[in-house]
Amino acid sequence: MGGLRLFVLKTSFLLAPLRRQHETLNPKLCTNKWNTEAKQQLGTLLMITRVVATLQVITRLQHRYQARGAKLGTMEASITQEAQRSRLRELVRTLPNDTSWEQAWQEGISPWNLRGVTPAITHLVKENNLREGRYLVPGCGLGYDVVALASEKRHVVGLDISKTSLEKARELASGNPNAQFVEFVNADFFTYVPPAAAAAFDAIFDYTFFCALDPSLRPEWAKKTAELLAVDGELITLVYPLGEYEGGPPYAVSLQAYEEVLHPWGLTVSSCNDDIPSVEARKGREKLVRWIRLAAKA
Ligand SMILES: C[S@@+](CC[C@H](N)C(=O)[O-])C[C@H]1O[C@@H](n2cnc3c(N)ncnc32)[C@H](O)[C@@H]1O
Repeated sequence: MGGLRLFVLKTSFLLAPLRRQHETLNPKLCTNKWNTEAKQQLGTLLMITRVVATLQVITRLQHRYQARGAKLGTMEASITQEAQRSRLRELVRTLPNDTSWEQAWQEGISPWNLRGVTPAITHLVKENNLREGRYLVPGCGLGYDVVALASEKRHVVGLDISKTSLEKARELASGNPNAQFVEFVNADFFTYVPPAAAAAFDAIFDYTFFCALDPSLRPEWAKKTAELLAVDGELITLVYPLGEYEGGPPYAVSLQAYEEVLHPWGLTVSSCNDDIPSVEARKGREKLVRWIRLAAKA
């Protein structure tokens, strides 16, 4: 508002001499014809100069407002993220697991949501660096990665405990040619039992699911992962968020934290890569770790 007032003041200040100049140069007051024409030309020239100056002021003000607006937009986005994170933590703290996530989705609380495919998945698909077969994505949220992974040779089950997230996931997937290779299943990962006729999964992709779970559930997560994965099957983890801090979700993770719970179930690291495409806010805070389930279950 203050800026607008300044703009109006500046503009009228610039236009004031113009008004005065027209009054001075009124041709009726001039007796000499040549003098009048010269004065008119001078008047026109001065008017053009004033108009150009005014336009420059407008442009400068526009730039200033745009820059201020962008800064405010970024601040607003991070405040919203922080507010969402604290609401999610409150829900997870106060409600049982099967209702807290559904409630979060219903309230539109999803601070983890990239609103698109995880860059590392886009990279793996593009590099054709993925095996064929049946895939599972537990805690798939809006299912962007599920659809991106799917192909004629990769059939993907996207699993989530939240009905609301899966309704949106189905909606987002509809119309995508990969959708025919996708199935969204509303179930709790820990009690999920695939249809009897279905073979074990050839691959499981875990991103922001491990870190969403209370750390006390990690041994159970590893047991269930191994149970669902075929022998020689691959677990692809995007280990995030690396670091050490208390509380969550997301709870801080480390490669050791995964190893501790996965080793007893015969899952061993086949590759570990820090140099992966990430969204700006997650750069340096995640790594791609691929595991093979070599042995029979513990
Ligand atoms: C942090 S979000 C991650 C979503 C998605 N992977 C992404 O990156 O956008 C965790 C997801 O796991 C789901 N979830 C939490 N506990 C679950 C459980 N026990 N079984 C299945 N899904 C669960 C939540 O509903 C939520 O969609």
